[in-house]
Amino acid sequence: MTDRYLSFVNSPLGRALAECLGIPRPPVLERHKDGGPAFSHGNGLIGMSPNGELMPHVANILAAQDNPVFSPDNDEALKAAYDTELRVQSASLDMLGRERFKTVVYDASGLKDTTALIDLHRFFHPVLRQVESCGRIVVLGRIPELCASAAERTAQRALEGFTRSLGKEVAKGATAQLIYVESGAEHLMESTLRFFLSPKSAYVSGQVITLRRSEHLTAVNWQKPLSGKVALVTGAARGIGAAIAEVLSRDGAHVVALDVPQAEADLKALTQRIGGSSLSMDITGHHTPTELSHYLLEKHQGVDIVVHNAGITRDKTMARMKRDFWNLVLNVNLISEERINDALFAKNALRPNGRIICVSSISGIAGNLGQTNYATSKAGVIGMVQSQAQAYAKAGITINAVAPGFIETQMTAAVPFAIREVGRRLNSMSQGGLPVDVAETIAWFANPASSGLYGNVVRVCGQSFLGA
Ligand SMILES: NC(=O)c1ccc[n+]([C@@H]2O[C@H](COP(=O)([O-])OP(=O)(O)OC[C@H]3O[C@@H](n4cnc5c(N)ncnc54)[C@H](O)[C@@H]3O)[C@@H](O)[C@H]2O)c1
Repeated sequence: MTDRYLSFVNSPLGRALAECLGIPRPPVLERHKDGGPAFSHGNGLIGMSPNGELMPHVANILAAQDNPVFSPDNDEALKAAYDTELRVQSASLDMLGRERFKTVVYDASGLKDTTALIDLHRFFHPVLRQVESCGRIVVLGRIPELCASAAERTAQRALEGFTRSLGKEVAKGATAQLIYVESGAEHLMESTLRFFLSPKSAYVSGQVITLRRSEHLTAVNWQKPLSGKVALVTGAARGIGAAIAEVLSRDGAHVVALDVPQAEADLKALTQRIGGSSLSMDITGHHTPTELSHYLLEKHQGVDIVVHNAGITRDKTMARMKRDFWNLVLNVNLISEERINDALFAKNALRPNGRIICVSSISGIAGNLGQTNYATSKAGVIGMVQSQAQAYAKAGITINAVAPGFIETQMTAAVPFAIREVGRRLNSMSQGGLPVDVAETIAWFANPASSGLYGNVVRVCGQSFLGA
């Protein structure tokens, strides 16, 4: 479904009218185009707190791109990048004030106590106005629970409030994220930096990601990171599921697209377009988990990526909720995912370095009027991801969730107009996301180089004010 207001206020006439009347003009977000650059195009800026440990790894990753990279005079980042391939230009305050920056990376891993937090002001205050529209800010830190002292833990935890606020202050479609990196996981940062410093993360902002150690370090072809992989996507006939299938296929995966028999025509049209296989099944069927495991083993010798996307709503307030509405939503959105995961594990159908990615919802985080059944199921999905993450990681499988906010699909088109407009506008981007925004986030989790990401719940919601 299209956002007519967004299209109108960004047309020549609408822009003039919006300026004249002083009405808000949501930005047109930059999104990845086929053949487009891996990193957002424009100047880069790097900075580091004293004692930071991550910048040499960042510099090696940034060396793969052609954008000029600056750092403030005397910044520790200059020294840290010195022995790497990255050429960094030292910039005076005056010069920083004249340049515009598309990507900003600040290594805060060296902040050992709260007095050191002043370094955030030193680095960000002079440059925040210089961040371009659809710019990307990434702050790097250490996982608070694993810090050596209470003082360090406090300082590192403080970064969350800082980064989430930055996300709300940078305007015009720019984003800000915090990535906590476990000591020993520094070499696993590349897929995450590539995602958050690129247009692929257009509708993700104010998120806190945890990157942990992993045994699996895989060399990746960044053009086709999923080549040779088999990906199962449930609910793939339309909406977000169809976009996930398209993006995973673009990245090289063979997609097994699953949906209910009633959606067979759409499903077949999709798999013809992307060259995958289609599977007409109801995920709630009693025998579905076993049949699905057999199918994947027989036809593909197993599966590398499982995306639990199929989902439904049956909205009613609790007082009016019929028992079958409750059961149906819980069965489709949560219980079937647990049963399928259990069967895939029991039959050894998930290949080593496999990925499970579940589609939750911000309703599962914030709750929503008329959605006790839906929010219960989507919060349960988060519970499943968090409770299984450690055990799965030991078996070499990662499990993560995305929690979309308002995404323009047939599901949200069915929402009454007034509620739809509120859902659309109440976020830092003042607009709904597109199915491709969820799909790109899933592709980042699915990347073989994302083995250090497990137990994460990432909202794809334009930094929605709901449950923030
Ligand atoms: N659209 C949004 O704004 C939004 C926001 C948050 C979360 N989500 C979640 O994203 C996912 C996709 O949403 P969407 O907007 O694309 O929905 P959609 O209704 O457009 O598509 C859902 C697909 O799932 C399939 N499906 C439903 N029940 C199934 C079953 N039992 N077995 C197999 N397939 C089944 C449907 O046939 C459909 O093709 C859902 O899990 C939804 O809860 C969507």
